[in-house]
Amino acid sequence: MKRPPLIANDSQVVPPSVPTVRDVATEQVTLPVPPAVHDGPTLDDCLRIRRSSRNFLAEPVSLADTGRLLWASQGCTGLGGLRTAPSAGAIYPIRSYVLAAAIEGVTPGFYSYDADAGSLRLLRKGDRRRSLARAAAGQTCVEECAFALLLTGWYKRAVREFGDAAPRLAAMECGHIGQNFCLQATALGLGAIGLGRLDPEAVRLLLRLPEDEEPLYLLLAGRI
Ligand SMILES: Cc1cc2nc3c(=O)[nH]c(=O)nc-3n(C[C@H](O)[C@H](O)[C@H](O)COP(=O)(O)O)c2cc1C
Repeated sequence: MKRPPLIANDSQVVPPSVPTVRDVATEQVTLPVPPAVHDGPTLDDCLRIRRSSRNFLAEPVSLADTGRLLWASQGCTGLGGLRTAPSAGAIYPIRSYVLAAAIEGVTPGFYSYDADAGSLRLLRKGDRRRSLARAAAGQTCVEECAFALLLTGWYKRAVREFGDAAPRLAAMECGHIGQNFCLQATALGLGAIGLGRLDPEAVRLLLRLPEDEEPLYLLLAGRI
């Protein structure tokens, strides 16, 4: 699918998910484009049956389902890089990283999600669920999930536009993204949960995230 261009002449409208962790980046995973029409539960159904899942089966999720979950979270859907989830001033201060453990055809590792390109870029190989669980108050569901989507806040441009309100706005945006993710998981028959109980500094150290990004929210998905 042809992706919409970014707004011209606005150097700030950089896709916020462009990887900034400088590391070995050799592997790129192009995610399947979600089908425009599909048979599935209605939005009302998903709202009715969605529940947080804390137990996942030790089975992989497909790449197609992973693509649909990430697309739902904040995939590109409009001209100028507009996304599924709303963003104050269309700044998109939330960056997305995927800790892949059991996604069919994907090397376990830590990836950045590029919403504009609809792809994952490998930053570091390896399954980090156990360490991540420790940084999330020992919550065992982290060790069981097929993958985790980590949302971080990058406030630089948002602070210029909105001052002290930037972190508050970013937290709201995490909520939008998280709800999209959880409802899509429900539609796909997968389990999902959002975890706020995490130690941001421990997560930053573990994943060697840039200083100007704050780990905010961890979304898990897996088979149930
Ligand atoms: C911002 C946020 C943070 C949360 N953090 C955690 C968490 O760290 N651990 C956990 O087990 N559940 C967490 N939850 C899930 C809630 O416990 C759950 O949504 C609540 O019990 C209602 O259940 P339901 O989601 O199944 O409707 C979080 C939910 C939200 C919205």
